[in-house]
Amino acid sequence: MENRQKIITTINSKRIEIDGERAFMPLATFLREERCLTGTKVVCAEGDCGACTVLLARDIGADGKLTFKAVNSCIMPLYLIDGAHVVSVEGLKKDDNQGESLHPVQQAMIENHGAQCGYCTPGFVCAMTAMVEKIKSENKTITEKKAKNYLTGNLCRCTGYQPIIKAAMSLDLDKLELLKDRHHNPNWLLEMKKIKSTPVVMNFNQKTIFLPVTMKQALEAKSLNNDIRLVGGSTDIGVVVNKGRLETPKAMALYHIDELKIMSHDNSEIRIGACVTLSEFEDYIEKFILELKSILHIFASPQIKNQATLIGNVVNASPIADTIPYFLVSDTKVVLKSIHNEREVLLKDFYLGYKTLDIKPDEIVTCLKIPRLSALEKLRLYKVSMRKDLDISAVTFAGTIEVENLKIKMVRLALGGVAATVIRLSQLESQLIGSDFKRETFQNIAKQLPQHISPLSDLRASKEYRMKLCQNFFLKFFDEVSVDLSNGGY
Ligand SMILES: Cc1cc2nc3c(=O)[nH]c(=O)nc-3n(C[C@H](O)[C@H](O)[C@H](O)COP(=O)(O)OP(=O)(O)OC[C@H]3O[C@@H](n4cnc5c(N)ncnc54)[C@H](O)[C@@H]3O)c2cc1C
Ligand code: FES
Ligand code: FES
Repeated sequence: MENRQKIITTINSKRIEIDGERAFMPLATFLREERCLTGTKVVCAEGDCGACTVLLARDIGADGKLTFKAVNSCIMPLYLIDGAHVVSVEGLKKDDNQGESLHPVQQAMIENHGAQCGYCTPGFVCAMTAMVEKIKSENKTITEKKAKNYLTGNLCRCTGYQPIIKAAMSLDLDKLELLKDRHHNPNWLLEMKKIKSTPVVMNFNQKTIFLPVTMKQALEAKSLNNDIRLVGGSTDIGVVVNKGRLETPKAMALYHIDELKIMSHDNSEIRIGACVTLSEFEDYIEKFILELKSILHIFASPQIKNQATLIGNVVNASPIADTIPYFLVSDTKVVLKSIHNEREVLLKDFYLGYKTLDIKPDEIVTCLKIPRLSALEKLRLYKVSMRKDLDISAVTFAGTIEVENLKIKMVRLALGGVAATVIRLSQLESQLIGSDFKRETFQNIAKQLPQHISPLSDLRASKEYRMKLCQNFFLKFFDEVSVDLSNGGY
């Protein structure tokens, strides 16, 4: 198959080709410095403030049109936008034979005094436009709660949020033309399909960018170049690169490989492919594991979740990653593939130490296999952070339990933020099995906890606070499960 040596993309309906070193550049820098689209601002350069928010459409929806989602362009290298359509704040205004007019979201921000210094404003406008694209496409209505949720990833230092929420609430969805209609271009959609079926191989100055379109190409590349770095959404990697602590001269992204976008299930398990984003997973998992959906609701921001992959969270192996505690207690398996082999590893065996994994240099994680909850199983997941939204956890907890005749038949427990990896509390689990399901049992376990964990102090929490929180998690778990059981019967 013929290779392509450049990235082809569309920005505000203009087709653009990018080759050489520039393909590593963050999208925000490219917009500002190469395209003079300076409406996009860069403030934190680490995905935290939303000033660089733009709309990105990589996929074509069921209606045959692009699906625009908000992403943070400061941590997105250009090689992640091959075959995509990007709309920056400049692309929101309408420019037709009746002249120029602002997007209704921009107009609403002006009318409701949603900007003062205005540094954050383009990001808010783009995030609000992404909200409108989704809510109107689903025939739903804007509520204050939804507006706040969609704007979680945007910080404003001087206006205050009330005028911004008022602007969102004032929008009339019936009168509003969606970007997916305004920027609909059948020729580009045809070209997009072609782009996604041709692998990109860019080699220059000992640097490589590889965008395979089949699994075989990806595995061959990994086997020949063990040091090639896999990049999912770049929300972990992009931050470290921007801080100058990591270079990724050889990068491979898998988003053109359709089989890695699977989300499927049968009676025993749910399978999630390596390219599924956290937003897609959040929507999908709701009907299977509501508790996990609640944790994803307070995971980062819409921008991060639209960009980040679930597998990225698992492979990044942070001791405070929010999805890992559940995967540990559910005995989730990681599927690893190399050109010669495929194997499955239980997540608890996948983590060998701080950011050390059971993964061979020629292997790629292709899928997670998540067991379904049993009918009797009661699950609770807790996250404590300094603020509710867009914050990294200080500690996390996962507990799942089956109780029969007031005795504990099965229990699995995990804690995050107390060791080099998220940990299973296997000894305490063994002790609990067969015990009476009563508060004293869990008080006793909480008392023993200092023999099993020794958390550290850092800027998020002191070790004493972490210990106390973890001990209280057990009591909260007991109390909540008791209520569940008394509602549903023992
Ligand atoms: C502002 C901000 C807020 C955040 N908030 C949270 C939060 O609330 N909770 C939380 O848990 N995390 C949070 N994160 C961390 C991050 O968003 C998640 O860990 C995310 O899931 C990473 O996914 P990614 O696709 O962006 O990974 P990337 O950054 O692309 O990659 C992460 C790691 O996974 C490896 N990798 C990716 N795909 C594969 C594959 N297929 N096979 C093998 N290796 C692979 C990469 O090489 C890299 O080592 C936050 C990050 C930011 C910037
Ligand atoms: S500049 Fe702050 S999120 Fe990108
Ligand atoms: S208007 Fe100044 S930061 Fe929001």
